[in-house]
Amino acid sequence: MKKEQRGQWGSRFGFIMAAAGSAVGLGNIWRFPYLAGENGGGAFIIFYLIFVVLIGMSVMLTEFAVGRMTDTAAVGSFKSIDKRWTFAGVLGVISAFFIMGFYPVVGGWAVAYIFKSATGLLAAPDVIGDSFGAFITNAWEPLIWTAVFLFLNVVVVVRGISKGIEAAGKILMPMLFVLLIIIIVKGLTLPNSVEGLKFLFTPDFSKVNGEMLLAALGQAFFSLSLGMGCMITYGSYLKKDENLPANTFIVSGLDTLVALMAGLAIFPALFSFGMEPAAGPGLVFVVVPTIFAKMGGIGTVLSIIFFVALFVAALTSSVSLLEVAASYFIDERGWSRAKAVVSVSAVMIVLCVLASLSLGVMADMPIPVLGVGTFDLLDILTDKIFLAIGGVLVTVFAGWFVKKEDLEREITNNGTIPFPLFETWYTLIKFDVPIIIAVVAIAGIMGIEQQAVMIFGLLIIRFLALFSKKL
Ligand code: TRP
Repeated sequence: MKKEQRGQWGSRFGFIMAAAGSAVGLGNIWRFPYLAGENGGGAFIIFYLIFVVLIGMSVMLTEFAVGRMTDTAAVGSFKSIDKRWTFAGVLGVISAFFIMGFYPVVGGWAVAYIFKSATGLLAAPDVIGDSFGAFITNAWEPLIWTAVFLFLNVVVVVRGISKGIEAAGKILMPMLFVLLIIIIVKGLTLPNSVEGLKFLFTPDFSKVNGEMLLAALGQAFFSLSLGMGCMITYGSYLKKDENLPANTFIVSGLDTLVALMAGLAIFPALFSFGMEPAAGPGLVFVVVPTIFAKMGGIGTVLSIIFFVALFVAALTSSVSLLEVAASYFIDERGWSRAKAVVSVSAVMIVLCVLASLSLGVMADMPIPVLGVGTFDLLDILTDKIFLAIGGVLVTVFAGWFVKKEDLEREITNNGTIPFPLFETWYTLIKFDVPIIIAVVAIAGIMGIEQQAVMIFGLLIIRFLALFSKKL
C-alpha cells in the first residue's frame, strides 16, 4: 500500500499515548506484581529492569525503525526486505492471536470487578479469595465479561488508527496515572507499609535461577509489547520527522514507571495487612479488594477506581494486539478493516472461551501430551517462547539483513537528529541481544516444568520457517 493511503498518528502526543497505552496493560498491573511476588521481589525486579534497559529498549528502537522504514505492518516489513523472513512476521501474527486468546479473559475479570466492587464484593472481606475462585471457575459468568471486553476492542479498532486507538489512549492513559497515584498515597500511609518497600527493593539473590531469569525476560517483552511486530506496526504509522530514540525512551520509561507504581500500590498495603505476596494470578483480584474492604467506605470508591484503571490499561493494550492481527489481513490480503477486525476477533473469542473454561469446567482436562490447559498453554507459549524468539528474530534481521546505513538514516531521520548511541545500539542488536536471549532461554527451558510446551513452541516456529516464502 502507498504511504498516503495508510493511517497515520494525528500527533506526537497521540502516538506516545497509544504506544505507551499498548505497553502499559495487564502486564504491568496484573502480571508484574504477581510475578515479582512469586519470584521473591527485589532480585526479580532488578533483573527485570536490566532486561528492560539492555534488551527491551534496543528491541523497541529496532521495531520502530524497521516499521517506519518499510511503512508496512509486521509481516510486510520483513517480507519487503527479505522474503525468507516472512515467517518472523507471521510468528508475530500468531502471537497476537495467542495472546488475545487469554488477555480478554483477564480483561473481562477487570470489567466484572468494577461492578462487583460497586455491588457488595467488599462487604465480606474474608471470602473475597473464595469468591474470586468461584467467579473464574464459573462456566458462564466470566465468558460474558470476556465477550464484553473483546467487543469493546472491536469497536475501537474498527474505527481505525487515529480516530479509535489514538483517541482512547489520549484520554485514558493520563487518567490511569492519576488513579494509581491516589492508591499509592493511600497504601503508603498504612501502618507497617515499609515492609512492602523492603520486599520490593531489597534483592535476595538466592532466588535467582534460570526459570526466574526467563520469567523476568518474558515479562520485559510482554510488558513493553515487543517481539511480535506490535511496535513495528505502530512504527509504520509514525511520521517521518518523529524522533525514534526519544520515543523509545519515553514509552519504555512510562511502562516501567507504571509497573513499579503498580508494585508500590500493592505491596506496602499487602504487608500492612499481613498477607501473602506469592498469591499468584489472583493477586490483584483478591488482595486489592481485600485491602480496600478493610478501609471502610472510601475503600469501595478506591476499588472501583482501581478496576476502572485496570480495565482501561488492558483495553489500550489489547487493541494493539488486535491491530497487529487485523493489519496483516488489511495490508497483506487486502481485506477491509471491518472485515479483518470482525473475522480476527471471531477466532480470538473461540480461544478465549477455551482459555476461560480451562480454569474451571475443563480444569481437570489438560491438553494431552502438553499437560496444561488452554489458558496456561497460550500464556507460556507466547510469554516464554514466542516473544523472546521474536525479539531474537527482529534483532538478527535488522543487524544482519538490513543495511547499516539504512538503519542509521532511519533512526537519525536522514542525519537531521543526533543519536550518539547509534554504534552502541547497533552492536547490541547485532551481537549482544540475540546471545543474551539465547542464553536466558536455554537456562529457562532447562529449569521449567512444562518442557513439552516449550518444545511444542519451538516446533511451531521451525515449521513456519520452512514455509516462509509461501506465507
Ligand atoms: N504490553 C501489554 C501489557 O503489558 C500487552 C501487550 C500489548 C503485548 N501488545 C503486546 C504483549 C504485544 C506482547 C506483545 O499488558
